[in-house]
Order: sequence, then C-alpha cells, then structure tokens
Amino acid sequence: MSTPQFTVADIRRTFLEFFKDKAHTVVASSPLVPGNDPTLMFTNSGMVQFKDVFLGTDKRPYVRAASVQACLRAGGKHNDLENVGYTARHHTFFEMLGNWSFGDYFKRESLKWGWELLTQVFQLPADKLWATVYIDDDEAYDIWTKEIGLPPERVVRIGDNKGAKYQSDNFWMMADTGPCGPCSEIFYDHGPEIPGGPPGSPDADGDRYIEIWNHVFMQFDMQPDGSVKPLPAPCVDTGMGLERLAAILQHVHSNYEIDLFQALIEAAGRETGTADLLNPSLRVIADHIRATSFLVADGVIPSNEGRGYVQRRIIRRAIRHGYKLGRKTPFFYKLVPELVRLMGEAYPHLAAAQARIMDVLKAEEERFYETLENGMEILDAALAGDAKVLAGDVAFKLHDTYGFPLDLTNDVCRERGVSVDEAGFNAAMDRQKAQARAAGKFKMDRVLDYTGSGNLFVGYEKLEEAAKVVALYVDGTPVAELKSGQEGIVVLDSTPFYAESGGQVGDSGRIVAGSALFEVADTQKIKADVYGHHGKLAHGTLGVGDAVTAQVDMVRRQATMRNHSVTHLMHKALREVLGEHVQQKGSLVDPDKTRFDFTHNAPITDAQVREIEARVNAEILQNHATQARVMDIESAKATGAMMLFGEKYGDTVRVLDIGSSRELCGGTHVQRTGDIGLFKVVGEGGVAAGIRRIEAVTGANALAYLQQLEDTVNRLAGALKAPAAELQSRVGQVLEQVRGLEKEVGALKGRLASSQGDELVAQAVDVKGMKVLAATLAGADAKTLRDTLDKLKDKLKSAAIVLAAVDGGKVQIAAGVTADRMGQVKAGELVNFVAQQVGGKGGGKADMAMAGGTDASKLPAALQSVQAWVAERA
Ligand code: ALA
Repeated sequence: MSTPQFTVADIRRTFLEFFKDKAHTVVASSPLVPGNDPTLMFTNSGMVQFKDVFLGTDKRPYVRAASVQACLRAGGKHNDLENVGYTARHHTFFEMLGNWSFGDYFKRESLKWGWELLTQVFQLPADKLWATVYIDDDEAYDIWTKEIGLPPERVVRIGDNKGAKYQSDNFWMMADTGPCGPCSEIFYDHGPEIPGGPPGSPDADGDRYIEIWNHVFMQFDMQPDGSVKPLPAPCVDTGMGLERLAAILQHVHSNYEIDLFQALIEAAGRETGTADLLNPSLRVIADHIRATSFLVADGVIPSNEGRGYVQRRIIRRAIRHGYKLGRKTPFFYKLVPELVRLMGEAYPHLAAAQARIMDVLKAEEERFYETLENGMEILDAALAGDAKVLAGDVAFKLHDTYGFPLDLTNDVCRERGVSVDEAGFNAAMDRQKAQARAAGKFKMDRVLDYTGSGNLFVGYEKLEEAAKVVALYVDGTPVAELKSGQEGIVVLDSTPFYAESGGQVGDSGRIVAGSALFEVADTQKIKADVYGHHGKLAHGTLGVGDAVTAQVDMVRRQATMRNHSVTHLMHKALREVLGEHVQQKGSLVDPDKTRFDFTHNAPITDAQVREIEARVNAEILQNHATQARVMDIESAKATGAMMLFGEKYGDTVRVLDIGSSRELCGGTHVQRTGDIGLFKVVGEGGVAAGIRRIEAVTGANALAYLQQLEDTVNRLAGALKAPAAELQSRVGQVLEQVRGLEKEVGALKGRLASSQGDELVAQAVDVKGMKVLAATLAGADAKTLRDTLDKLKDKLKSAAIVLAAVDGGKVQIAAGVTADRMGQVKAGELVNFVAQQVGGKGGGKADMAMAGGTDASKLPAALQSVQAWVAERA
C-alpha cells in the first residue's frame, strides 16, 4: 500500500487547513531573528513567537494557533550545522509545522489530532508509526496505548538520557531558560533496509526511525539556576519537520530527495559544474543557500560577531564545498533566483529581498575567495602526513589569517578522518586575546586598582553635584593628592558626569574645591559603576577626602543629548522608511553630530532622506515629553521597546520613550523633543558590505550647517552674477558655453596642427628612399598627435615619423610607420626608443604607437637620434 504523493506546497496547505477546521487561527511565520529576545540566537521552532504568551506576559485574541514557521538551528542551543551533509535529515534551515493551545486543550486532543492528521489525511500506514513519552508521563502513555490504540511495544518511555534532570530527548526547552515541558514524539519507520534502531535503543541515531512530530506539553518556566516554575496555564506546543514529512509522503528516505531539495540540488549542480547529483557537497550547498538567504532577508549580514558570525560560518562552509567541487569564483549567490522561485510564494519577504540577498552573498564570496585557496594549501599541507589530529595552532592560524571558521576546518578534517585539537585552538585564541588586552592596557595607561564601592550617578537629573573625592590616580597609580599642573583621574562618591557608554561620549567639565580647579576632559568607566574623571589640575591641590563641586559642561552635554535623543527618532524613521531589516550596528553620539551605522544594502535616496528628515522634525515639533522608566528586563520586553542583540542588559533596564520611539537606553536625553531644535541629515554612505552610515546634526549645529550652505550659495551667486533662485539655470548656461568653447578649441587645435603638419612635410629627411621625420607639435593633445601622424603618413607615402608634444613637464610621443616600411621599422619599437630617452616607456603596434615621458629637457636630443636609429634598419 502506498501513501498519496504531496508536494511541499500541498503539505503546508493541508496542515494549516486541518487545524483551521479545528478552530485554530493561522499565524504567519515570524522572522529568523526573534523580536526583542537577547536570550535566543535564532528562531529555532514555531513556539518562539509565542514565548511570552506561554509565560503569561502577552495575550492574543485566540487560544489556538497553527503556523508553518521558518526555523534555523545553527549556533545556538539547538545546532545542527555540523551534521548537514552527513545525514539524511539534518538541516540548518527548515520549516516547522506547528499547532498550539494557550491554556485551552492539552495532551488528549493534541495527540489524537496528530494521529488523525497523519493516518487519515496524509494516510500514513499506522503500523509504521511509533511514539515516545517522558519517563513518568503515564497520562500520555495511556492516551497512546488505550485511547489511540498504539501497541505498547511501539510506545517507548524515555528518561533523562542526557546526563541531568530534565536533560532528555523527551523534555523540550527552547533555550537554557524559558518555557519548557515533557514531550511525546511520533516516529516513522523507514523500513528494515535502512540502518538504525527504534527510539531509546543504542542505534537510535540511524536513519531508519525518524522523529517527525514533537508534541510538547508546556508546563514550566526554566529558571537560570535549573529549577522550574509552573506556567500560568498548561499549554501545548507541537512541531513537525516539513521536510521529514515530505520525504515520507514522497516515498523517499532522505529529506534531500524531496521536490524542493531536488530542484535546489540540480541548481547547485549546474552552478558548480557537478554532474553527480548525489555528491554530498551539493546537499550542503542546497541546505546553506536556504539558511543564508533567509538570514539576509531577515537582516542578518556576515560579520565577526553574534548572529552575523553564524551567517558568515554558514556561507563560508558552503563556499568551501563549492571550492571542493572546483569553483574558484563566486557561484553561491547564483542559486538565489532558484530558491526564490521555489519558496518566494510561501515567503514573500524572501522574494522581495532577492537582489539584496544576491549582493550580500556575492560580496562575502568575493571576500573569502581571496584567502580560501591559500588557507586550503596550508590545511592540505598540514593534513598530508598521517597524523590523526590537526594541531590547534594551525586551526587558529587558519581562523585568524585566512578567515576559516573553526567548523569549516572541522568539516574538512572530518572528511579526511582527522580531528581538530579544539583545546589547542581555544588556547591559541585566549593567548591572542590576552596579548590584545595587554596592548590595549598599555595604550590606556594601566588598569586602575580600585576596590571601593561604586559611585552614585546623578547626571540624569542634575549637571552639578556636591561630592567627595574617594580616589585619585596619576599615571595609573593611586595617590593621596594631586598637585597643580598634574594630569590624573578623579573618582567621586557621587557624580553628575556621564561616562562614555552606549555610543554616547563621556562628559567634560570642572571639579572645584576652594581654590583647586580640576578640568575634566573626559569621563570613562573604571568599572561598570565607578566613573573616572580624566583631566588636569589647573591650580591648587586636590586630596582624597576633599569636598568638591562637580560641574558638567552644560553646553556640550546639552548638544550631546540633542544628538542622542534624535538618534532614537532617526532609528525609528529609518525602519519606517527603509524597512524592518534596518538594525543598529554601531553609533557615536557627541556634541557635534550623531553617526549611526545600520544594516541596509543600498544607498539611501534623496527622497528617502527627505522623508526621514520630515518624520523626525515632525516629532520634534510635537514637543513630546521624554519618559524614562526603570523596570525589570521582562517587563521592559513586554513594552515592545527596541533592544539590540548581543548587548548585555542587566536585570533592571531603562525604557526611554522619546516621541513615538521606545528603546532601552542608559544615555542622557532631552526633556522634550522640542529641545532638539532642527534635525538635518548631512551625510550618507556605505561603510562595509550591507552596512550604511548616516550622519546628522541638530540644534545650533544644524543652523550652522545651513548657514554655511547658504554662504556658499551666496558666494556662487556673486561670482556668477545671478540671484540664488536662478543659479541652476545660470550654471546650465555656463556649462553650455564651456562645451561650445571646448568644441571650438578642439577644431582650432586640429587646424593648427594640420597646418603645422604641412610645414613638417618639408622637414622630412630621405634615408635610403624612406622619409624620416621627428618633430615636436606645439600645443597638441594625443588625438591631434595621432591625426597629424595619419595625415603625414598619407603625404609622405613611405615614412617613419615621430611626433611629440610637451604639456607641463610631461611628454607625449606618437610614432607611425607606413605599411611598406613596417618590415624594417616597427612603430612600437621606435616609440619605445624615444620614450626611454625621456624617462618613459612605451610600445604598441607596428603602424602606430603612443608613449609618455617625464623629462622634457631630453626631448630635442631624443628626436635627433631618430634618424640614425632608422638608418640602421632601413
Ligand atoms: N517546540 C517543539 C520542538 O521544536 C515542538 O520540537
């Protein structure tokens, strides 16, 4: 008996329709980058977008949901990258079919509907299905054996088989913390011809019994200390691998044989020139093009940290497999159109991003090909003997110098049965970091020896504070007193000075005590809550224990705050105008400007800049009051505030509402948006592949910028004798005039040169029947030299000619030989002969050649020498 054939698209549709009929709300796939969740690298399952619903901090208008979710399992708690290419069922990117109950139905409905869908709708043979349950989950065991009727020998209890409490194949956790619970998994038996044992048996890892559908009974919230708290209500979270189900329904044993993958593998075969479509490298490439393309579509571009580094690792691993198939130039990006053809309908944002994805992948390929070949030579040499372990420092050198991520090196070694000394790799990495730290310390003096308590920061409310000196440093060493003229660092018990962080520069200002005046040039953190005021004691003496008044330079701080607050408004406007893929990659806020780097793959057009300016200035004009709220991180997340991945947030954070923007931020800000004054973008450009930088000014700086522009316009208007409003047409006229004059000059030059040419005919000397002429042509450019040369050839009939012109110190030389004489004299050699004498070099064809030189003073002698040179050959 045979199950019906379903395409991947049929399966998606059938699954969602089944659950829609059972009163589930169909929800769209969420991005691979989880919104506002720094605990999770990537969306690794369908439940990620519902995490807060399980925790009870978010409510939805429905209690049942179903989705087809794009997932990525690379570089996080769930990581399958290493296995791709080696098994029939592992992927980095895959699609998960899921259904959910939020405090509504529980185990019984979930398992029964699962059974119904598989056996009745998809018509899988019941005798090929197995199930597992968590060791003590009698309820699930009974539902399987007594209500659904699965024979007890095909229901397997699994305990904590991964070494600790709740560390089990049948206890599911999204990450190290968060919602989790026991689960029951449905397996499919691909038949005895495939190696592998049933779940729970020693060879369960084989490809015969494949898990297809996991039903998690979400009951707990895992705490950082490993204990569990009950969730507000028991929930259901299921996930079924679309590719695995498709393999069964299409009667194939490997996910890579399903319709979607076959098309991708064919495309990969075409682009790498590989006829053998069973080559495992093609599977790797087909898997990785999905992961990397979806990542770009969701705003992740290759970089050296965080999500960007996982992206880089996947791309480079794919490129290395292409290289193995003989590719030496970019090929990977060429698979994108085929991927979009296959998946663009189900994921329209992928189709919309096609051009951007191709650009990003191609740029990364070009970059890696620069070092790949050399790196592979080093690796090949290291693997040439029969050592079974690759030394850690070789792996590190490949990483550091040739851009080989460790898993790429591992992948090559695994193919050759060699393992990598990862401990040695990590040690080499640590050594390098320690060296870099030491070098850094040297530059920034020494690490300060400070054991006191943290200082109070009062700079959100005040710019002046009465405080006490608690420590002083000169050249990094603690001192009891600073003397007049000495440079050093002052630590206070309480300070209004903001220390550089989050892109905002440190404050400057003054610390005064009686006649002592310490001028603060910068404020930097010594530790998270200890600020060092760097500067110089202008006069007096300052001792530890002294009572002081600390005064921030108000004008500078206010200018900085304007630029910081406007950065939040600009960030929001960028996302609104350019798209949600815009993510902050770096920022610098100082009194002069705000500089903001973000992911985006094309220049911002003038119209977009105007739109951004309009939106930000509109928020300024509304003069909203800024609101800063301190709260715990979970509540902050629930407010929907913008958070940055990779940023370490403490347990309590500050949520800043500026206009309609909402971000987590520790910086100092204006009280009302109106305080910002005018906002003006002053620059935009690319800083790296896929990263743009925008710069803008506010307040008095914006005014100064506009005044400067106006001054320039006025000066131009004066020079061109036209009012500012008519400048454009006036400049148009002037350019038109210039073009006319250029044409006229060109024609005159030609006429002049040809009349000179006529005079030159008479200067030609006869050498054994050949006319030889070497002369300068005053004022000629390259074209005139060539034209005149042609005319002289016509007139002299049988000749070798050299014409030269001097412009500034530079010499231009043209040589020409008539066809009948090319056997004896070659223009290329002739021109080189002359050029060498004037400090140049040249060559060319036998009938006509050009060269340049730098020493005009030698030209007359060089021209003189031509006749003898020709005579030798004539
Ligand atoms: N979240 C569960 C899984 O990924 C369904 O297996």
